[in-house]
Amino acid sequence: MQTPAPLRLILLGFGNVARAFIPLLASRSNWLTREYGVLPIISGIGTRRQGYFVHTSGIDAISLARFSDPLQYFSSTLQPVEDAFAFIERGKNVGASILIELTSLHPQDGQPALNHVRSALQSGLDVITANKGPTAYAQDELQALSRQTHTQFRFESTVMDGLPLVNLAQYTLPAVDIYSFRALLNSTTNLVLSLIEQGHNLTEAIEMAQQLGIAEADPSYDLNGWDATLKTTILANTLLGGHITPQQITCEGIRDLPPETIRTAAQAGTPIRLLSYAVRKDGHVTAQVTPRPLPSNDILQRGTGTTGVISLDTEAMGTISLIEHAPTLLQTAYGIFSDLVTIVRHRNTETQNGI
Ligand SMILES: NC(=O)c1ccc[n+]([C@@H]2O[C@H](COP(=O)([O-])OP(=O)(O)OC[C@H]3O[C@@H](n4cnc5c(N)ncnc54)[C@H](OP(=O)(O)O)[C@@H]3O)[C@@H](O)[C@H]2O)c1
Repeated sequence: MQTPAPLRLILLGFGNVARAFIPLLASRSNWLTREYGVLPIISGIGTRRQGYFVHTSGIDAISLARFSDPLQYFSSTLQPVEDAFAFIERGKNVGASILIELTSLHPQDGQPALNHVRSALQSGLDVITANKGPTAYAQDELQALSRQTHTQFRFESTVMDGLPLVNLAQYTLPAVDIYSFRALLNSTTNLVLSLIEQGHNLTEAIEMAQQLGIAEADPSYDLNGWDATLKTTILANTLLGGHITPQQITCEGIRDLPPETIRTAAQAGTPIRLLSYAVRKDGHVTAQVTPRPLPSNDILQRGTGTTGVISLDTEAMGTISLIEHAPTLLQTAYGIFSDLVTIVRHRNTETQNGI
């Protein structure tokens, strides 16, 4: 067997998702070598408070996953570089070809993650991100930049963790013509509403979502509808061909819903959920995120606890619904892994075609 080609990655942001990604990548490392002839190597890990570390030769994923704290291993053996941009540049210089952007979400403008992604694509790195900000605020720009720089920009796990939505539309259901979608896209509000229905108060419910690691670092982004709004923007633009911004979405959160209203609706068989809806009409895409009682026969009623659901209304395939049952960090990590595989496949196809 030929020596596998190194597939060097740098990870910006090393919180819950990145820590779940490393063991998943390690467990699929031999598979990547067998299927695609590549060996995943981590060349850098960077975070805002702990510093930005680049390893000249890198550590293969299997070896790195053996450390209980891979970031601590990097920080105890390497000198940090100055900032995220120096990290990207230095990563590129040691041979990294993919940035995995996993910093915290800033829902108001998607920064500084948006600048990290811009900088990496401009440097010729492919980018995978689970951070909704860059895609929600600048999808058109980033996709144009990636075409210009012959790089790939992938964001599968920004919306429903590992559930293939971008890949579904791009590869599995090409030209299916999606008119509209209805969806429950925010696990935290699903869980919080379910827990309030069961008698918990809002504070307890938020704490439970945080303990599961699913709530945003600032849970008000979930409760005020911003997380769902950014996801809805991404899907409206990706699935319906829209060009909308988060500000163009009508958004209302769940924070001000009286617990009694939530419990009464559930008892009547029409539980309230934070509903994302987007539609394309006469070439114009509009979207909204609002709490709505779900009718009793609605497939979206499957969205209890952290379970997410989406129904797509299409021309060629009628209505298609997908349910992601109680996703955990593993599913988010898998979404990143699936983007990695897409990038590798695409590179292999280009090599075969002599591009
Ligand atoms: N958790 C999920 O289930 C899930 C699902 C889908 C998508 N996402 C998205 O994935 C991303 C990561 O989520 P997470 O749960 O892993 O977050 P997290 O646990 O809060 O970790 C965030 C990481 O980003 C770093 N960071 C924050 N701002 C930074 C900056 N300006 N420059 C460099 N590093 C920075 C933090 O470093 P310090 O600790 O040093 O500040 C930390 O290492 C977020 O955008 C989130 O919205 C999460």
